[in-house]
Amino acid sequence: MWINAAVDIQGSELVMQRGRRKFLKVIGGTSVILAAGAGGWVATRAPERARLPWTEAGRVYADPMRNALSYAILAPNPHNRQPWLVDLKSDTEATLFCQLNRLLPETDPFNRQITIGLGCFLEIFGIAAAESGYRAEIDIFPEGSNARTLDARAIAHIRLVEDTTQKKDPLFTAILNRRTNRTVFDETRNIAQSDLDAIDRSGRGAVRVSVLNDARSIASLKEIGWQASLVETKTPEKHGESVGLMRIGKDEIEKAPDGISLGGPFLEVANRIGYVTRESLADPASGAFAESLDYMRPLNETAGAFIILATAENNRVSQIEAGRDYVRANLTATVLGISMQPHSQALQEYNEMKDLYRRIHAAFAEEGETLQMLARIGYGTAVPPAPRWALDTRIVAG
Ligand SMILES: Cc1cc2nc3c(=O)[nH]c(=O)nc-3n(C[C@H](O)[C@H](O)[C@H](O)COP(=O)(O)O)c2cc1C
Repeated sequence: MWINAAVDIQGSELVMQRGRRKFLKVIGGTSVILAAGAGGWVATRAPERARLPWTEAGRVYADPMRNALSYAILAPNPHNRQPWLVDLKSDTEATLFCQLNRLLPETDPFNRQITIGLGCFLEIFGIAAAESGYRAEIDIFPEGSNARTLDARAIAHIRLVEDTTQKKDPLFTAILNRRTNRTVFDETRNIAQSDLDAIDRSGRGAVRVSVLNDARSIASLKEIGWQASLVETKTPEKHGESVGLMRIGKDEIEKAPDGISLGGPFLEVANRIGYVTRESLADPASGAFAESLDYMRPLNETAGAFIILATAENNRVSQIEAGRDYVRANLTATVLGISMQPHSQALQEYNEMKDLYRRIHAAFAEEGETLQMLARIGYGTAVPPAPRWALDTRIVAG
């Protein structure tokens, strides 16, 4: 039963998969208590309410706008902040805004990654609209934008136009199964070249999408990625931003289904006995901090290949395009049974990261390009869907 309970933890961004053995020593007594009869409790720990949007998508809303939006809110986005806010004008017209208290000022100082997440949202919106026979006309930053910071201006005006000639996108079938997969990837399985090629070709054309699977690039990206994870984890304000967004246990996750969710009975017990808390995870001297690094290491070390997305300009429109192409690559991989996890740390624009940012650009960007996304790909184990706020909470009626 303990083993089953532990399997549940895989949806968390920061679970102690590797550190489990060490951790079990610490809470040996507690595991005996669980084994002795807490099976009923264990079975109730999945944050089902926070996962409802994944089962409600496409089923609850009759109008084409809400129907497409019910899929769009499942888009990948940094730290699962779900910054989208939709001003609904009618069943076919809406304006997308960014909710400005959902930014990540420490790790994403220019809101570049938040913008990429909004691009993912718009791409899924368009794919879902096409599925029900609508063409999504998306006008990006209609009132202009600021390259240093997002502001109250619209991210996009969206109009749905009924169009019987609209081609459906085969990636639609992957929207509900897409995940960010933070498990150890099986390096004994090679990814077929044809699958790598399909991911390489999945973009819309405005972004350079490249799959890298030569041994040298993989080794270099693993090393840079790990160094960057260490820099971020050991820079208190940067790590503190993530720790502040942690939701530990079912109650916290269901109350605020965003941020970094640490769920499952294993982590709930660890939290209840005071071992895994926001304080211990922020404290470099704690066991929980050390075990979280143990957990992260194999996530850097196992990759069948990496994917990078690079743009010639680094403006808001190219960041939206990068998001649209990132989610297309993620959906394409999903169709092929291949897992994906972004590794964004080395691409982040803050002082402590400068050297690694320079290194990764020198090695993998072409002249003048900005690397917008880096992700590892491979064969992970299945993970449950990440929490989402219900669609109604993301809509403001205009
Ligand atoms: C721009 C961007 C950067 C991201 N960076 C990371 C990252 O560095 N590490 C990671 O594990 N996930 C990263 N993610 C994935 C998000 O954390 C994930 O999409 C979110 O938690 C929701 O989970 P889901 O993709 O499974 O729906 C990133 C996603 C985006 C769009």
